[in-house]
Amino acid sequence: MSTAKLVLGGKEHELPVVTGSEGEVGIDIASLRNATSAITLDPGYGNTGSCRSAVTFIDGEKGILRYRGYPIEELAEKATFEEICHLLVYGELPNRKELARFKEGLAKHSIVHEGLRKILETYPRATHPMAILSSMICSMSAFYPWETEEDEQNNALLLMTKMKSIAAFTYKQAKGEPWIYPRTDLGYASDFLQMMFTVPNRPYAITPVQERALDLLLVLHGDHEQNCSTSTVRMVGSSQANLFASISAGVCALWGPLHGGANEEVIHMLQHIHDEHGDYRKTIAMAKDKKSGFRLMGFGHRVYKNFDPRAKIIKKAADDLLAEMGVKDPLLSIAKDLEEAALQDEYFLERKLYPNVDFYSGIIYRALGIPMNMFTVLFAMGRLPGWIAHWMEMRKESGGRIHRPRQIYTGQTQRRVPALDERK
Ligand code: COA
Repeated sequence: MSTAKLVLGGKEHELPVVTGSEGEVGIDIASLRNATSAITLDPGYGNTGSCRSAVTFIDGEKGILRYRGYPIEELAEKATFEEICHLLVYGELPNRKELARFKEGLAKHSIVHEGLRKILETYPRATHPMAILSSMICSMSAFYPWETEEDEQNNALLLMTKMKSIAAFTYKQAKGEPWIYPRTDLGYASDFLQMMFTVPNRPYAITPVQERALDLLLVLHGDHEQNCSTSTVRMVGSSQANLFASISAGVCALWGPLHGGANEEVIHMLQHIHDEHGDYRKTIAMAKDKKSGFRLMGFGHRVYKNFDPRAKIIKKAADDLLAEMGVKDPLLSIAKDLEEAALQDEYFLERKLYPNVDFYSGIIYRALGIPMNMFTVLFAMGRLPGWIAHWMEMRKESGGRIHRPRQIYTGQTQRRVPALDERK
């Protein structure tokens, strides 16, 4: 199959068909506009391919997720977040030597510029950390050059390491506690945890279980092909905005409750059920009632229609972590009851709504002592290598073409501008 036929106004048009390496089929409609002046309409881009990409493969029907060909289940078991960063951004898992060099680079640049620190200190303590994170990342363009391709390669490394320091500092700023500097002898997850939780005269001891739990969450958030924030990064970058500006826009896109902000909303929802003495049925009824405007947070996905492979891994990790830490979180059992009830309910079955990555991740963050308003910041830390990988791929492969969708106009047709007194 190499072409598709479209009949429009009685005229036949032949359109090329593109096939991906996993056999997915796309109809290339780029020539349609010139041939017919028609556009394709797909609000929310539910069935629109915006690019060709070699970063991540998802089969939503089968619950498959692979970064650069490697199944997420295997990566979750065998790779650390540093290795995932290398895999996504540079295309391959690092060998021992490459990993050592990469970690050296991360360690060398982990300190945050004094100028950025001064800006960060001006934020009121109640500021949401996602607001600070996005503006700090954009502000990096004031301190590091970004004119050449070499600059941008370097900036990718700077972002990967400074992001965790900035993220931890947003927390310290909100708490009014002194900042803790990064340590070069620790892995990514434990360095972040020590910057968050060390207070003067009371060193914070990170257990391997805690380190692994956070590292796993970062691994699982690494990339997810053309989701809202990644498409935003590509869109902004297509105007030739620099990497910092593009990633900062991605952070803002992630913030919303229908995207990365859902992990925070899940805990609000579970806490609300807990306060109502564990009666989750009301919440399910409300989620089914369209008039309520409420959705079951952490449920449903644009792409996954059977299960989200990340949610499966996270559910088990949450169980293991709480057991190993000896923590009993009532919200975990509420989450399990809620999941079980929803998965037996016609409404959710018919619409193929299953728990997504955000449903159980908050339980792990809570067990690690991470406050709710930092959950989405952690999602952003995990998603960063994916954003960078897509930005770099887009710069190489879009041929410099700006992203610019079309629309079907539904407003007024041409009319005369009335004088001020004539207006109703
Ligand atoms: N609770 C209740 N109903 C839901 C739902 C949820 N979490 N998610 C989707 N639905 C319903 C919609 O109301 C719609 O019903 P309808 O066909 O009767 O109108 C149907 O399922 C399809 O939903 P739609 O909004 O078209 O799906 P989408 O692909 O545009 O949205 C999400 C995907 C993730 C934004 C959506 O499922 C959602 O809002 N989930 C909750 C937020 C969340 O967890 N986000 C994190 C994503 S990783």
